[in-house]
Amino acid sequence: MALLEIQGVTRRFGDFAAVDDVSLAVESGEFFTLLGPSGCGKTTLLRMIAGFDLPDAGRIVLDGRDLAASPPERRPVRTVFQSYALFPHMTVEGNVAFPLQMAGVPASGMAAKIAGALEDVRLTGFGKRMPHELSGGQRQRVALARALVTHPTVLLLDEPLAALDAKLREEMQIELINLQKEVGITFVYVTHDQTEALALSHRIAVMNRGRVEQLDEPSRIYGQPATRFVADFIGQCNLLSGPVLDCSGGVASLDVDGVGVIRAAAPAAVARGARGTVALRPEKIRIAASVPAGSPDNHVRGTVADLLYMGDVTVYKVGTERGARLEALLANSQSGRAQFFEVGDAVEMSWAVDAGHYLAE
Ligand SMILES: Nc1ncnc2c1ncn2[C@@H]1O[C@H](COP(=O)(O)OP(=O)(O)OP(=O)(O)O)[C@@H](O)[C@H]1O
Ligand SMILES: [Mg+2]
Repeated sequence: MALLEIQGVTRRFGDFAAVDDVSLAVESGEFFTLLGPSGCGKTTLLRMIAGFDLPDAGRIVLDGRDLAASPPERRPVRTVFQSYALFPHMTVEGNVAFPLQMAGVPASGMAAKIAGALEDVRLTGFGKRMPHELSGGQRQRVALARALVTHPTVLLLDEPLAALDAKLREEMQIELINLQKEVGITFVYVTHDQTEALALSHRIAVMNRGRVEQLDEPSRIYGQPATRFVADFIGQCNLLSGPVLDCSGGVASLDVDGVGVIRAAAPAAVARGARGTVALRPEKIRIAASVPAGSPDNHVRGTVADLLYMGDVTVYKVGTERGARLEALLANSQSGRAQFFEVGDAVEMSWAVDAGHYLAE
């Protein structure tokens, strides 16, 4: 049995369903992420797990127990928010002690627990400081220590790194991964940042308009997106759509709008005449002056319309002869790479038949 089960949970504000019949199960010890654009219902779902808000329908079950009747303070759940919400007039120690005091932990046992929590977040020696004497990352670590000190069964984190700059955010991501491994507490993490979700999570639920569109491991979310929304939201993706001309032997031919006929690995059930879509990541496309004759790969001619040099890679936007625009990403250090292209260069793009992912949608 999963540790935390969300069963058919709906939350409406007036006629609008902010969370719409969501079901998912989080395993014990998992780093689980709710990922989706602003307004898709992530915080609303998290607030219901914490008990700050109640579902209009469905159940939330933790460790086999329905939480409906438990107020927030009685749930073995803590939340870390984007704004650190530290008490500004209390020392670090005072902040971390607060939930212990609320829980009636005797003073004699407190010092060891506080020291343990500060050690978990690598803030040993910072106990006497005031919040304003800490950096943003350190403040967020105090907030983490304060949430962990009572050893909750589940830790909820709502965009905890969103206020930090990019470099610090990356450092804190690594720390969060290590911290979660060390303390072994189940994390339910909310973010709208797909790279953060991919980097941190064991599994990701991609949400859109109050619903879960896909629930999978990061590599499958990235490599085998279930829907057009997921493909588009998770990183850059070329979506090649058009009528299916033929499908046999696990390969479909599609007459893609603006591109022409391509072949793509597809499930057997794809019907001729239906519209199909293939999601093709930019890094799967090769660019050359021309593709050798007889290559079994897909190939399409075009002209470089734009390029973006990004140090390790270059992103090329290539216009096809029939008016579509594809994005290709080439590593600049690729061995044997002799040629770079400029805006206006005629090129030929190619990709293997199994490089794209046929969308089930
Ligand atoms: N108390 C409320 N009353 C009315 N509408 C609300 C309320 N709380 C949330 N909503 C609406 O529900 C939807 C989901 O909000 P929610 O805060 O869960 O989004 P989110 O996914 O956390 O977004 P963000 O990434 O911006 O934090 C939004 O359209 C929001 O305006
Ligand atoms: Mg939110």
